[in-house]
Amino acid sequence: MSDEWLDTIVDSRRDATARIVVLDLVSPADVELPEFVAGAHVDVLVDSADGLVRQYSLCGPPHDRTRYRLAVLAETASRGGSLGMHRLRKGDRLRISRPRNRFGVSDEARRHLLVAGGIGVTPLLAMAHALEAGGAEYELHYCARSRADSAFLDELEHNPRVRLHFDDGPDDQRFSAATDIGPPARDTAIYVCGPGGFMDFVISSALAAGWPSEAIHKERFAPVQDADVHTADGSFTVRLAKTGGEYEIKEGESVLDVLLAGGVDAPYSCGQGICGECIVRVLAGEPDHRDDILTDRERADGMFTTCSSRAHSPILELDL
Ligand code: FES
Repeated sequence: MSDEWLDTIVDSRRDATARIVVLDLVSPADVELPEFVAGAHVDVLVDSADGLVRQYSLCGPPHDRTRYRLAVLAETASRGGSLGMHRLRKGDRLRISRPRNRFGVSDEARRHLLVAGGIGVTPLLAMAHALEAGGAEYELHYCARSRADSAFLDELEHNPRVRLHFDDGPDDQRFSAATDIGPPARDTAIYVCGPGGFMDFVISSALAAGWPSEAIHKERFAPVQDADVHTADGSFTVRLAKTGGEYEIKEGESVLDVLLAGGVDAPYSCGQGICGECIVRVLAGEPDHRDDILTDRERADGMFTTCSSRAHSPILELDL
């Protein structure tokens, strides 16, 4: 969680669709906002009275540091986050964290295939801005239920690198994994963001077509529901290499919660396995990965999310 909040002011607010509001935030001191890379998100303190924090991607051009742009979908099952954001008006103050850069453009790829479902377009829009500014080769596929449900059409519609796919449109413009993603291509990265079912479809289609998992970059807005895997009795011990402290993690507890309750200054933000802020290195033991952000290579390198992952072994030693 952020311990350093930035004060911002809502400089403009517009309803992009019946359910999506677009907010531009500026500094009250009229100074540049901190730098961010395309794909970054910020924590937003939606309600300071009850500490309600939500994460939203920055969707404006990264080179414009006069403002941060957020687009927020009014969730039907909102627990206050998105509805609180929709109630904001021009001139309102809002506290946010510094940008967190976890989901970024690959340095290794020379071609970039961006696949967005619904409000998942937000981080990919920032990437498209950055790729366009850098003269990179990219394609953005934006899938939405209908034109009326699509935000940013004014800036996307006439871009020849953008393909719009509406569920209620003619068959020939629907998204097709076979043709729009196609077979694996060298030096090409796929980026996908959107609702869980959409992401699962895109990712499984790409993997089935032979794309290596390292080429697929993803950002979810909700954690994967996967509670099927358990250690033998559900508990294990975490040992911290730097202090020697040991903490028992019982069934139903997260490593992060136990460490924080024990006074450990462990990094974190979303608490749901989707932002990557809590990643630490495993030095010994066998992790039971339950996040949805680490690549196979990162897992093989010992990366571990304390907020969502557990252990298959009785002891897990962390570089903390
Ligand atoms: S705190 Fe966000 S992934 Fe762990």
